[in-house]
Amino acid sequence: MQKIDLVSQDFKRNPLPTFAALREQGPLIETRLPIMGRTRITTDYETTVAVLRDSERFVTSAHNAGRKQYAGMQWWMPRTITTLANNMLTKDDPDHRRLRKLAEAAFLRRSVDDMQPRLEQLAHTLLDQVEAIAKRDGQVDFVEHFARPFPLAVISELLGLPEEDRPVFGKWGAALTQTNSVLAVFRFLPLLRKMYRYFERQFEECRQNPRPGLLTALVQAEQAGDQLSHEELIAFAFLLLFAGHETTVHLTSGGLLTLLEHPEQKAELLADWSLVGGAVQEALRFYCPVQMTKPRYIREDTELVGVSLRRGEMISAILAAANLDPAEFENPGHFDIRRQPNPHVAFGTGMHVCLGMKLANAEVETAFRCLFTRFPKLELAIPSSELKWAKRIGLRGLPSLPIRLSP
Ligand code: HEM
Repeated sequence: MQKIDLVSQDFKRNPLPTFAALREQGPLIETRLPIMGRTRITTDYETTVAVLRDSERFVTSAHNAGRKQYAGMQWWMPRTITTLANNMLTKDDPDHRRLRKLAEAAFLRRSVDDMQPRLEQLAHTLLDQVEAIAKRDGQVDFVEHFARPFPLAVISELLGLPEEDRPVFGKWGAALTQTNSVLAVFRFLPLLRKMYRYFERQFEECRQNPRPGLLTALVQAEQAGDQLSHEELIAFAFLLLFAGHETTVHLTSGGLLTLLEHPEQKAELLADWSLVGGAVQEALRFYCPVQMTKPRYIREDTELVGVSLRRGEMISAILAAANLDPAEFENPGHFDIRRQPNPHVAFGTGMHVCLGMKLANAEVETAFRCLFTRFPKLELAIPSSELKWAKRIGLRGLPSLPIRLSP
């Protein structure tokens, strides 16, 4: 079994050479990864998609594959962690279907379209602050002052969480970005307990005083007999808050970095905003902030691309490797906002495909449009080679991105 480095600064800065070398060794290779331990990883598009679309053979509930594990976590992990991790992403049907259906309506295209004016308002309010800080200090951290608070404000409003609590969620999210080992996960435990109690209180308040938002809708679904357990409710809110902002933070900042590093593509976009949808899809493919999915477990002994797999074994589908596979994408190392077709899998695929992808697309399109319309000359405040990357496995993210609004 070989050691593969998926956390170094060099890899995070440019993952393409690593994936090209791994693909040479085969579509499914065995390795050991931080936090997860021994696993197989996919290295090409076809195998990644084959795993994610076959939820009969490859399940997300370790229990269904006969493992003494809970919600993808080792059985000895503290209960707070396993409870919070026990959400729709780590469940197979029919439980998965039951939970997903409850939230789906809020994330339909039409609901997201209705939010468009509010997205622009939120973006401009934050950009006013960005502008004020840049005026005062000469530069501003784009992650801290825009890429994080923007999706956080959106998902908090959707859930119906009080506005004054947002700065705390931002700190929790920033801390999550840095959990890169089992030890770090344990260090994170007091914070997780705090989050657990926080959501417990929020649901209690929604029960007593219904308010607009998804939390109250979930409580009402529970009361109408949808059989959501107390713990399921909390895990649900935790998933939506963090899946709903942490990922978007890194697409917004990584997408901005990618555009700034490709000035000719940026110029085309600024000259024709009808290209913004394509630009966001290409940023998803090329930058791919969520580099791998949750592990899939082998339900029964089987075979895939000539490799024998035993019940209970684990596969990690590497989305970033799929998105850079030359067999699927012509010249994959070329960032091209007009790429057509662009069947990237940055949101996953199959039954666990991202629930929030329409919202994420709308958020990042709005962010780019508002940002560059107001500050067309914005640039990095430090050379991109000096940027520090988050060490967390599976996440391509910048804890900070200093920018200047004009040269
Ligand atoms: C750029 C932003 C985003 C990216 C790259 C992203 C990526 C992903 C990926 C790769 C998965 C599948 C994981 C797997 O199969 O193991 C997923 C699932 C999910 N995402 Fe996202 N996501 C983003 C934004 C959002 C937003 C804004 C929300 C919600 C508001 C959200 C909610 C979810 C949920 C609930 C699931 C689990 C779906 C299920 O199990 O059926 N995501 N996301």
